Amino acid sequence: MTKHILVTGGAGYIGSHACKVLKAAGYVPVTYDNLATGWRDAVRFGPFEKGDLADRARLDEVFARWQPVAVMHFAAISLVGDAMRDPGSYWRVNVLGALNLIEATIAAGCRDFVFSSISTSPAPIPAARSESFTGPRRI
Ligand SMILES: NC(=O)c1ccc[n+]([C@@H]2O[C@H](COP(=O)([O-])OP(=O)(O)OC[C@H]3O[C@@H](n4cnc5c(N)ncnc54)[C@H](O)[C@@H]3O)[C@@H](O)[C@H]2O)c1
Repeated sequence: MTKHILVTGGAGYIGSHACKVLKAAGYVPVTYDNLATGWRDAVRFGPFEKGDLADRARLDEVFARWQPVAVMHFAAISLVGDAMRDPGSYWRVNVLGALNLIEATIAAGCRDFVFSSISTSPAPIPAARSESFTGPRRI
């Protein structure tokens, strides 16, 4: 029986190598990628599904189509300079995008999930910078 593994960011550097290894191990890697920094030509070891982590309906469609046995999550943005300049967009992709994917994974009944480390260390949110945390308060 064919075992599909959903590889987000499979058109990128690490993800495309993961696809190669998965294919050699007998799995069929299904790449889910918006090609923001990836290459269509790098998807050579299984099907390609173009989509964004933010698009929950598209994620659900892809899960329903391929019924992956596991997810390997490499879709991210990780340029430190950009992250310092525009932390909000990094949080949106790397944090909210990952959450969206995790929720879609759970909803599809898939329980095996590999989360690649996100190398970017997002800058503190400006509004939070000036606040000091004094612990929980009784209301
Ligand atoms: N490159 C390294 O040496 C290295 C080492 C350890 C961990 N990592 C981690 O591996 C992950 C991938 O890194 P990489 O170097 O392969 O980067 P990369 O830019 O080559 O690959 C990321 C892929 O994610 C896709 N992507 C980005 N935003 C997306 C979105 N919103 N929806 C769908 N697809 C999206 C891009 O198009 C790209 O193909 C990151 O989490 C990174 O921190 C990288």
